[in-house]
Amino acid sequence: MSINYIDALERLLLLDEEMMNRRYEIFRHVQGERRVFYSEKLQRWIFTQYSDVREALRDARLSSEQLPSVLKQLPAEIRDTLDTDNPLLRQANKIMMSRDDPDHARLRLLVNKAFTPRMIEHQRPLITRLTHDLLDQMGQQEQPDFIRDLAIPLPIMVIAALIGIPYESLGQIKQWSDAGADFLGKPTDTLEVFFRMAGAAMEFNAFIHPHLEERRRQPKDDLLSAFIAAESQGDKLTEDELIANIYLLLAAGNETTTNLLGNGLYALLKHPDQLELLRQRPALADTAVEEILRYESPSQITGRHTKRELEIAGQQIGADQSIMLLLGMANRDPQVFTDPDRFDITRKDNKHIAFGLGPHYCLGAPLARLEAQVILPMVLERFPAIHLTDSQIHWRKNPTFLGPENLPVALS
Ligand code: HEM
Repeated sequence: MSINYIDALERLLLLDEEMMNRRYEIFRHVQGERRVFYSEKLQRWIFTQYSDVREALRDARLSSEQLPSVLKQLPAEIRDTLDTDNPLLRQANKIMMSRDDPDHARLRLLVNKAFTPRMIEHQRPLITRLTHDLLDQMGQQEQPDFIRDLAIPLPIMVIAALIGIPYESLGQIKQWSDAGADFLGKPTDTLEVFFRMAGAAMEFNAFIHPHLEERRRQPKDDLLSAFIAAESQGDKLTEDELIANIYLLLAAGNETTTNLLGNGLYALLKHPDQLELLRQRPALADTAVEEILRYESPSQITGRHTKRELEIAGQQIGADQSIMLLLGMANRDPQVFTDPDRFDITRKDNKHIAFGLGPHYCLGAPLARLEAQVILPMVLERFPAIHLTDSQIHWRKNPTFLGPENLPVALS
């Protein structure tokens, strides 16, 4: 059946499951046909090609300050029904991801100081031990599910340990980060998503305050203590900025890393030659993880905003316009990647932009990479006969964050 691929892309971005399953066919056609276009349905400009997306990510004329406009669009009666002191209204525009300089640079520097490569590398033994334990438990399940049993809990446990909060609250943390992922990732459903996020922000504030108080009295070797040290250095970090960015670290890393692990195992199981290669040569984990990030990018979309009229990607774009940057599509651009639809864990010169680029380049990239590089070879070593029990998987209902909802597997 012949289809209009632009229409199909819009349907995909509005979560039509049939189109989600034809994602890469749609990407190939749209990318070949249209470099840039305006979607009335999504009320956004769409950039489809690698070079334009890459340039836009580094273009200082484009703004990341988008959340406040989502909040501004809320109907007045809904704003009024909210507690005027709901922390979401104060904190949503404090996360570094949605700030421009100079606030962005200030916040990023403070978090960067605490989130050092050394601190990340120190997590390797913890990640290895937790993976062993979770794989033990998965091995005892009647119907093991890689997403439920490992890909969801592990990133939460690791980031909770880094931040310094107990991971007995795992279920709660998952709910908060789901609310955050929907809030950041869905261009539609804003009201329902907004209310869930507002509730999560209330709960998170109530949860985090006692932990902050405790660290103020007695600092430890964790991110909470490092942030508090930054807060106490004059006016560098306000209380709302502190809480908003702890929430960001908690939420930004979970959904995406779960998806990286899920997409990775799924791609390997669908390409048994590549799976076998990784099993034989675990040292290929580094290039394998880069290829997974490119081939099935966990973060498919990011956005920017124009503050004034400008020319970009060969287009004149007016002021106050939203631009969707299709990272996942850019990572399949044949002008940049040879044979882009081939999954090749030895791919060289893999310049994917799955973690973005430029000033907002993902702060958690080293952690996400480390987790996937440790975990995927361990799974293959522990369960050499692992295979899918259901060839039809369902993708999460979020156009930004791509990953399987479940990955039921048999282990022998
Ligand atoms: C596979 C996993 C991950 C992917 C694909 C991913 C993807 C991204 C992307 C594309 C951006 C840039 C957004 C933009 O430019 O608009 C970003 C930013 C960010 N990510 Fe990640 N991320 C991942 C894991 C993590 C983890 C584990 C953490 C933290 C624990 C994290 C924290 C952040 C933060 C704080 C930012 C904002 C940086 C800034 O605004 O300067 N991410 N991520």
